[in-house]
Amino acid sequence: MKVIKTIKDMQALVQQLRRDGQSIGFVPTMGFLHEGHCSLMQRARKENDVVVLSIFVNPTQFGPNEDFDTYPRDFERDEQIALKEGVDYLFYPSVEEMYKENPSVSISVINRVDVLCGAKRAGHFDGVATILTKLFHIVSPHRAYFGKKDAQQVAVVHGLIKDFNFPVELVAIDTVREEDGLAKSSRNVYLTEAERTQAPVLYKSLRQAVEKINQGETNPDRLKEIISANIQAYTSAEIDYVEVYSYPELQPVTTVTGQVILAVAVQFSKARLIDNLIIEV
Ligand code: PAF
Repeated sequence: MKVIKTIKDMQALVQQLRRDGQSIGFVPTMGFLHEGHCSLMQRARKENDVVVLSIFVNPTQFGPNEDFDTYPRDFERDEQIALKEGVDYLFYPSVEEMYKENPSVSISVINRVDVLCGAKRAGHFDGVATILTKLFHIVSPHRAYFGKKDAQQVAVVHGLIKDFNFPVELVAIDTVREEDGLAKSSRNVYLTEAERTQAPVLYKSLRQAVEKINQGETNPDRLKEIISANIQAYTSAEIDYVEVYSYPELQPVTTVTGQVILAVAVQFSKARLIDNLIIEV
């Protein structure tokens, strides 16, 4: 596995790979890799000749009061994991390399962002769309892999690829969970011991709501009540949102039908956790 730190080297390499007829699978990450990322790398390994992983904690997608400075980072550990998963090239640029000059163009996501995490994180998806636009131009992948845990991100990236005609196939992969159901996340390390035992309630509550749907419940407000009541009863977390929307449109629904997302976000003392289930009704 080769570590590449400059845009120039990365672009020269992928141009050569493309001339050689190699297909490129790309896994963009912010590092501190866990099994969720591993499942993306494994799928990319299966479907492409070459796998490129990027590790870049992107400052433009963090708000002023968010955890950019303290976001967990461990490059040596990540390098070992990437090597084990069969990554060919690890793109690891500095912030200065990625954001060199005063920008003259900004990307603003105008759809699917005023709900869920986007509603509370102004500018977050603009930052995500900006860095992915740059990374897609630098890595020129045939396929790009994203986790469904960040379902709103998947929906936004879907729009970005479509609107800007990137010749990239978006591959969305199911959420990888701990044995007790907690979705794997780099931010789980922020949980205290007590909070870690409570955190699986998020997934259990979502599952309980899905069971209600299977029993015939179609009222989204009733489902939201079930999820919220569970989280309030069994965790010390503060609820940020509990929502039921159509997916991937992310529009409110009056009756649960078609493809819908049940999504939650909560704030524990230091960890903000999200989870969701996307189902076809
Ligand atoms: O999901 C993430 O880790 C980030 O939002 C991404 C897609 C790597 C862009 O910085």
